[in-house]
Amino acid sequence: MEKLALNEGPLQGVVNVPGDKSVSHRAVMLASLAQGKSRIGNFLAGEDCLHTIEVFRAMGATIERTGTDVIISGNGIDRLLEPTTPLYFGNSGTTARLMLGILAGLPFFTTVYGDPSLSKRPMERVVTPLKKMGALIDGRQETGFLPLAIRGTKLRGITYELPVKSAQVKSALLFAGLFADSKTTVIEKAATRNHTENMLQATGVPVEVNGNAISVSPLNGQALSPLDIHVPGDISSAAFILTGAAIKPGSNVFLKNVGLNPTRTGILDVLQQMGADIKISNEHLSGGELIGDIEITHSDLKGVDIEGDIIPRLIDEIPAIALLATQADGTTHIRDAAELRVKETDRIAAIVDALTVLGADVEATDDGMIIHGKTELKGGKTKSYKDHRIAMMIAMASIIAKGEIWIDDTACIAISYPGFFSDLQKLLSNSSKDSH
Ligand code: S3P
Repeated sequence: MEKLALNEGPLQGVVNVPGDKSVSHRAVMLASLAQGKSRIGNFLAGEDCLHTIEVFRAMGATIERTGTDVIISGNGIDRLLEPTTPLYFGNSGTTARLMLGILAGLPFFTTVYGDPSLSKRPMERVVTPLKKMGALIDGRQETGFLPLAIRGTKLRGITYELPVKSAQVKSALLFAGLFADSKTTVIEKAATRNHTENMLQATGVPVEVNGNAISVSPLNGQALSPLDIHVPGDISSAAFILTGAAIKPGSNVFLKNVGLNPTRTGILDVLQQMGADIKISNEHLSGGELIGDIEITHSDLKGVDIEGDIIPRLIDEIPAIALLATQADGTTHIRDAAELRVKETDRIAAIVDALTVLGADVEATDDGMIIHGKTELKGGKTKSYKDHRIAMMIAMASIIAKGEIWIDDTACIAISYPGFFSDLQKLLSNSSKDSH
């Protein structure tokens, strides 16, 4: 157990949140498949994305990393090699699901595995449609879970309606579609993050988008062009800083170069509905992704209903939203978010557990939670369940709690936001500097 000693002044100053996790994964994957030298700036050197780098190194890709700059000298798909040892995906669901789509079409045999959390997360959602494409995948529990073994083969194009609203499954099928014999179309029930579509276009692969149907055609020997991109700041990491500033009186924070792709900005819509004081400026496109600066100033908040098609646009931000809701007047009801139960941990249970320890009035439902605010938060002994976003929610709660908060593990935060505590301390100490 460690004590969170963060309860100082308000959050003030400027912060550059680290690169986007989803974009960083996809950049390494596509650059490693491409022919030529790719440059990726502001890469997220978090544990999940580093696993994606190691996976491609194990297949012979030349990847150099200096801090957040990554250079990948791609020799094209045909030069990737069969790895001699099993590929390890760590805690990373994105690496697992997207790599299954790629490995299904590469002409060699791989075995893949993950850490105990990832080994419990459902893989059937991607294995089932990949098998419809002809993929040869074997494993325990009817191929529902890692570890899995994949014998790459020629795939068939299919049209597939996604039963779950998942960008990971969509992306896996679009990647597999590159190795198919005809067009692959994925139909989504609600829009999910579209970084794969954007980045495929940047490598020269046409992607057709017709309403909620997304199609790719087979590469048929065509080489992918290398990438030259600067990864936007991760709005999912920014969400915790925004939350801290929104709930701590006296705060004013300026977040620079945050990714504002509309498939990811549900958190900003919710903050605005809650009455947060937010200003967005300097919006511009970079490498097909919208980027901008966000300024937030503390203000009173009110509870809101969150449900339906907005859920995939804020699925990773629900831990932050739950904390916001404890400080909002009235009730916040989150529905249609049962996917939270199969994230790095059961996030509905983990959020309710931690916030209840801290004195919040929160109740789990099958597909979300109900939070009555506003409640003063107190100290207590909490568990992160080794989930980076639960740990960051608890850390942010500690800046307003009236007592000492203890937490079992914060090392997991390095999965998505390695500099989290130093950024937060900097913002907290800026205000104490002002007062001297
Ligand atoms: C991600 C998609 C989402 C998200 C995850 C990253 C991606 O997962 O929760 O953190 O990069 O495609 P699902 O596709 O399971 O919703």
